[in-house]
Parts: sequence; C-alpha cells; structure tokens
Amino acid sequence: MIRIDILTLFPEMFDGFLSSSIIKRAIDKKLVEINLINFRDYSKDLHHKVDDTPYGGGCGMVLMIQPIYDCLNAIRTDDSLVIMLTPDGDTFKQRDAYHLRDVKHLILLCGHYEGFDERIRNLVDIELSIGDYVLTGGEVASMVITDAVVRLVPGVIEEESHLLESFNNNLLDFPQYTKPRDFNGMKVPEVLLSGDHKKIREYREKIQRERTFERRRDLLER
Ligand SMILES: C[S@@+](CC[C@H](N)C(=O)[O-])C[C@H]1O[C@@H](n2cnc3c(N)ncnc32)[C@H](O)[C@@H]1O
Repeated sequence: MIRIDILTLFPEMFDGFLSSSIIKRAIDKKLVEINLINFRDYSKDLHHKVDDTPYGGGCGMVLMIQPIYDCLNAIRTDDSLVIMLTPDGDTFKQRDAYHLRDVKHLILLCGHYEGFDERIRNLVDIELSIGDYVLTGGEVASMVITDAVVRLVPGVIEEESHLLESFNNNLLDFPQYTKPRDFNGMKVPEVLLSGDHKKIREYREKIQRERTFERRRDLLER
C-alpha cells in the first residue's frame, strides 16, 4: 500500500476528489492511504499564524518555515519522499508518475499565497510543477499528481489499459469509437468492424505514430 500525505492549509478542497470515482475505490480497497494534514496545526504562533510579509518588501504573504519544518519532522520516515509543489519545479510527466508509484510514502507540500520561504527548499527531496502557469495554491497540483500516481498502483485499474495509454513508448493513444457505427454520417473506420485483430493492431499503431508526429513531435525525438 502506498501512503500519500498531503500538507495543505485547505483540506476541504479535497472533499470531492477523495470521495469519488477511482480514487475513492482505491482508498476503499486499501490500495492507497491518503491523509490530509493541515500544517497550521504545527504553528507555534499564539494565533496559529503560518505566513508573514516578505523581507525586502513586496505584495502578498510568504509561508513561514517553522510550521512546515515541525510538520515534516513529525511525519517523515526513511521511506518518505517529500515533494514541494512549485511553478519553478521540474515539470511533472507520466514517467514521474511511474517512478512515484513505487515510493512507499509520498509527502506533497502545497504552497499558497506568494509561495514558500526560500529556506523551505532545504527540507524537501524534489520540486515539481504541473505546468507553466500559476495556480492559487498547490492543492490542485497535488490532486493532479495523486491522481496520476494512484491510477498506476497495481490493482487500481487494469494494468493492460496503461500499456495502451498516451505517453507509453513516447506515443499518443489511438482514437477510440463506440456505438453507433454511424452518427449523422460520421462513420467508425471499417477496419475496426472487421474482426481482423492483426489489421486492427496495425491500423492503431499507424495512427499512433502519425498522430504523435503531427501533435507531439518532441515525444518521438526522445
Ligand atoms: C500563487 S502560487 C506562488 C507563485 C510564486 N510566487 C511564483 O511566481 O512562482 C502559490 C502556490 O501555488 C502552488 N502552485 C502554483 N502554480 C503551480 C504549478 N504550476 N505547479 C505546482 N504548484 C503550483 C505552489 O505551491 C505555490 O507555492
């Protein structure tokens, strides 16, 4: 079982995420344990303050190191990997999701406001971004990473479906169709109705290569 601890000031943001669909099933089947930890609980400030104004001036509030330092000290073990969510981290990729599913204990640290006191970087193992844009906080980013990792945990969904998904072998997925065969003149390709498995496999592989070439040439160059 993989354990994921999400350090957040806004645990209520995760209500729908943890109580629906595949993530909920994985939790119910005890394939993953997901804990929401509010690092405000570790603040030594009388009013449980976790942020303050930036030295040198500027707008917004900066997350202080003390609550995060104490929180990490309380939960970190030899099996833990601490991930800071930050727009200037390495961009999270599918291959990272495969790597992270093998870690026994993931700790995802969500920032907010103007972000973290720079010294907090010394407390973490890796820094990840989910893309080149700025979110209000790390909560959505932590959900993205948790979702991508949990669905790869053995037993959560059929292993075979991963093999055919986008980004495996640096290719995009092939197009899928379902009933009806003809919708307002938009037809399902004949080959998919032929029952000839060899032809279907060749057709799908060809489309995968063509589509990846057209849309994501960078994947083929890897
Ligand atoms: C408003 S952002 C801080 C942005 C920071 N001042 C900057 O310009 O890089 C607040 C928090 O949201 C999270 N966040 C924002 N965008 C993110 C992204 N693309 N990937 C991961 N986390 C992100 C981080 O935890 C960050 O500390």
